[in-house]
Amino acid sequence: MSDFPGVRPRRLRSSAAMRRLVAETTIEPRQLILPMFVREGAREPIAISSMPGVYQHTRDTARKAVAEAAQLGLGGVMLFGVPSSKDETGSGGIDPDGILNVAIRDAVSEAGDDLLVMADLCLDEFTSHGHCGVLDSAGRVDNDATLALYAEMGVAQASAGAHVVGPSGMMDGQVGAVRTALDGAGFEETVILAYAAKYASAFFGPFREAVDSSLQGDRKTYQQDPSNAREAIREVDLDLAEGADMVMVKPALPYLDIVRQVRDHVNVPVAAYNVSGEYAMLEAAAANGWIDRERGILEMLTSIRRAGADTILTYWAAEAVHLLDRR
Ligand code: PBG
Repeated sequence: MSDFPGVRPRRLRSSAAMRRLVAETTIEPRQLILPMFVREGAREPIAISSMPGVYQHTRDTARKAVAEAAQLGLGGVMLFGVPSSKDETGSGGIDPDGILNVAIRDAVSEAGDDLLVMADLCLDEFTSHGHCGVLDSAGRVDNDATLALYAEMGVAQASAGAHVVGPSGMMDGQVGAVRTALDGAGFEETVILAYAAKYASAFFGPFREAVDSSLQGDRKTYQQDPSNAREAIREVDLDLAEGADMVMVKPALPYLDIVRQVRDHVNVPVAAYNVSGEYAMLEAAAANGWIDRERGILEMLTSIRRAGADTILTYWAAEAVHLLDRR
């Protein structure tokens, strides 16, 4: 109680109508981006056991999901490819007939200008060793050799019609390399959403199943150490200097402090990626009856927005629109 007992914050919580009036944070469909997996050669959508409700799409079901996303008014889709064969250099990511580039063309032809089609720009789904870059003779990830491939991959994605490319491999100089290549190929208007502060996180676990990852070992020599916050600001500054249009923090929930610091630091849109492990945690707890699933989804998404994210990549994007409608 304050000195003056007439001061009662609870008055502003007293009814649903009052709470709605004073709510500080909103989630709108346009702010949500749906990540989608498209599997080469799939005839049926394939369930991802660690991500109940998420599938590796066929080309056909991917088109339907894209159409639904547009109809729901989502901000965009972020496409990932699951190729049927991989090689040392991840050539399937650059091949115009590779599954990701094919899926981009499908999505653009389905949604036209109603929805932003975004593509993950990274080699890990396409390399036989599962790393985000190519390896040198000592088996280490070769930063600069990888940049040349990212440059080609960015042009391939833009040629397929991607509105936004998302370099996610955490190689030094990747944004600059992709920007230069895009501009050189006449794609000055293609937007770069830089996975700027991406941490070496246990919460990517289910994603590895989602893309049939071949990774042995870890990504600690290129993704950030979870201990570091200042380093995230450094990464963001570098990406902006290299030409990033938007920056991302990833994962979201264990890094809400980073989302807030980045939001306060920059003047570009900030995205946060509500990753596979965050999805799996809530889905698993809800399946056990331990957490109210729908409330949990909205609370998680609200917390990411409250921390300062302008946009959220989330596997719940389509469902969240329905939950928001019903609220
Ligand atoms: C890399 C990439 C990853 C994710 C998105 N892009 C995996 C990784 O870095 O290991 C993870 C997304 C998620 O966990 O939901 N191409």
